[in-house]
Amino acid sequence: MKAIILCGGKGTRLKPLTYTTAKQLLPIANKPILFYVLDQVKEAGISEVGIIISPDTGKLIKEAVGDGSRWNFQVTYILQAEPLGLAHAVKTAKGYLMDSPFLMFLGDNLIGGGITDFVKEFNSSPCDSLMLFKEVPDPRLFGVAELDSCGKVIRLVEKPKEPQSNLAVVGVYLFKPCIHKAIEDIKPSLRGELEITDAIQKLLDCGLEVKSHLLTGWWLDTGKKDDLLEANRVVLDDYTRRNIQGNVDNQSQVIGRVEIGVDSHIQNSIIRGPVVIAPHCQVLNSYIGPFTSIGEGSFIEKSSTYNPNHLVIRTSWLYGIIIL
Ligand code: DAU
Repeated sequence: MKAIILCGGKGTRLKPLTYTTAKQLLPIANKPILFYVLDQVKEAGISEVGIIISPDTGKLIKEAVGDGSRWNFQVTYILQAEPLGLAHAVKTAKGYLMDSPFLMFLGDNLIGGGITDFVKEFNSSPCDSLMLFKEVPDPRLFGVAELDSCGKVIRLVEKPKEPQSNLAVVGVYLFKPCIHKAIEDIKPSLRGELEITDAIQKLLDCGLEVKSHLLTGWWLDTGKKDDLLEANRVVLDDYTRRNIQGNVDNQSQVIGRVEIGVDSHIQNSIIRGPVVIAPHCQVLNSYIGPFTSIGEGSFIEKSSTYNPNHLVIRTSWLYGIIIL
């Protein structure tokens, strides 16, 4: 099985942060969201990975992921000349995917608990597609599913003005190669994109089997629904383990799940987890945490992040530290 990870698009919703980077590379708990996605793909046992990139940010994605050896992946970069929709991205990747069944993972989405069980289920089932839904307060921002009384998908609508359910389509999909034919048969939507929801609707209209699961764990969509601070909080809560590699002096206290990177120095401070402090930081006379990420090379003095949900990123475009 292959995977394609969608890292094209423009990221306009996350401006100004995306003036200088791709939205899939914005750090959550000091690691790009894309890296969590790639970790989950590896965990699911997939090693052939195609990454869809755009002319705008493709270079940055390539620099970050490189040849994929960090994950033992065989990586292929696939240039999508224009962000003409998720189904258009699949169309662009058709030469790479050939007749392989595949996972499609949006590079700005992440789900708690990973994807391994869904991949296993798809591989052992005769279904043509498997998709995930999550209940959301405002479904108008998403693809929305209507299910029948047995829980079977009957209709999918992309960003409806009047949603018929609160079930949003999550950015993790599994497909058999019949999706390529369905994509050939759809037309661009009103917003000018080839929508993957329309292609899956074609599968349904042709009587093909689309399985679905209601996600019970967390789902992050940093492109739309979750701001970076909320994503930071969720990921810190789930992923942080105690690992102190830096130096903590006798006047400091480090409490709970705290990561301190190499060559970071904590002096006369309290660090209350979950907290991630990257390498080469200095924290002096401060109170850090809980739910705080501190980016590489930060210098913090006489500060408190006691108010939860704080994120400190050392920003190359400001040459300093911003505290959000
Ligand atoms: O996040 C889940 C939602 O993702 C689903 O509920 C929708 O049904 C689905 O259409 C999609 O919504 P958007 O169209 O708003 O997705 P967005 O433009 O944010 O793009 C998602 C990812 O795919 C992002 O990493 C950028 C990448 N992308 C996007 C487009 C439009 C591409 O690689 N190529 C593209 O042409």
